[in-house]
Parts: sequence; C-alpha cells; structure tokens
Amino acid sequence: MRKNIVAGNWKMNTTLPEGLALAKEVNDAVMACRPNCDVIICVPFTHLASIDHVIDSTKLGLGAENCADHKSGAYTGEVSAAMVASTGAKYVILGHSERRQYYGEVSAILRDKVALALENGLTPIFCIGEVLEEREAGKQNEVVKSQLVEGLFNLSKDEFAKIIIAYEPVWAIGTGKTATADQAEEIHAFIRSAIAEKYGKEIAENTSILYGGSCKPSNAAELFAKPNVDGGLIGGASLKCEDFMGIVKAF
Ligand code: PGA
Repeated sequence: MRKNIVAGNWKMNTTLPEGLALAKEVNDAVMACRPNCDVIICVPFTHLASIDHVIDSTKLGLGAENCADHKSGAYTGEVSAAMVASTGAKYVILGHSERRQYYGEVSAILRDKVALALENGLTPIFCIGEVLEEREAGKQNEVVKSQLVEGLFNLSKDEFAKIIIAYEPVWAIGTGKTATADQAEEIHAFIRSAIAEKYGKEIAENTSILYGGSCKPSNAAELFAKPNVDGGLIGGASLKCEDFMGIVKAF
C-alpha cells in the first residue's frame, strides 16, 4: 500500500539557528501526536547535518531541496547526492518548478539528478506541474505526462518504485490560490494512470502522489480525502510548526 506523506519544503528560509529551532519544534510535535502519515522536512543544505542530530529520523524524515547533476569534482558551489546522503538525509526534492524556472533545470539535467539520488540511496520527491497558461489552455495533462516521460520514465520498474511524485500546479505555489480538491483528484488520477500504463497497475497503486501549492490547515483535509491525493508538499505553511502540524493532523 502506498504511504500518506506530508513533506515540508522550507525553500531559502531560516538561518541555521532558526532552522534548528523549527526542526526541534516539529520533531517534538510529531513525537507528541503520532501522525497517521509519514512526515518529512526538506531543508537548506547548510542545515542538514545539524538537524539530523536533533531529530529522531525514525519519526521525522529529513531531506534536501536539490542536489547536483554530477557525481563530484570541479563544480564550484554544487552539493552532490553523496554529500546530501552523508548528512543523514534520506530524501531530496528534484524538479521543483522554481528550479526549472529560475535555474534552467530541464528534463535531461533532472534525469541525471534522479539517477545520482537513487545511486546514493536518497528517495527523490519529484515535482511536476503546469503553469497558468497551460492550465487555461487545457494542456495540464499533456504537460505533466511529458514531465513524467522525460524526467522519470527512463527508470527501471525497481527504480521507479522508489520515487515520490509531487504534483504542484505552478499557479498555486505561494499564491494563496489552491487547486480545488476536485482539480487535484482529477490530475492525480491521470498521473496514476500514466504510471500504470508505463509500469503496471501495482507500481502505480503503490506510488505516493502528493499535492503542493498553497496547501494549508484549512484546505488539507479536503484535499487529502481524495482517493488519489496521498499527502502534500508544503512550502509557506511548513515554516510555522503550528500550521505544518495542522496539515499533518488532516490525516
Ligand atoms: P507553497 O509552496 O505551499 O508555499 O505554495 C509549495 C511548494 O512550492 O513546494
């Protein structure tokens, strides 16, 4: 059975002391409430090793927000998948729309990142989603399908089985504008059918597909009640323990 997951994406927020305090707070809250889902926080590279020391990683998963598309060597400023894994982190967000949009991360680059993440034992949280003009033109299914095909469908069955998908409509990220639960369900079901077509029904049924984009305590329960929505990737609301836990408790 697929897992229900709530994952935070802190983005470029918090200094190290602030991040440590937030991670401790979330860790304590998770320990106290025994959630009905896996809970993960994805944090800046600079915070990973320190946070790994202050959380119980059997209860609260830790991930990076990106990793390099090369193994090692002369790539000044980059952080490799092996480096991320060596901090204790177990997850990595890849293909976030902000990386695609601002840092030119096209599918060929993402395929390399996914391969390196898997080689190093990291679970990719792979983001897909359409921009507003594509949604308005009714092209959302086409767009997410090609992101899946180009970014992931080179993987073997065993490799693909390790991937978590996050559907994040770009027009809903940080805008306060959430996809309705019905819109999310419709496209999540489509994504699952595309996975089934490529990898078979069993793998598709076992793949967690998270929704991301202005998810908050007030709308999480309705989204998570949908059969094909297996949790959320949470940006803004993951920066406040109370809001993040409000979403976790929606399960
Ligand atoms: P948001 O971001 O929750 O702030 O809309 C979600 C994300 O980008 O992962």
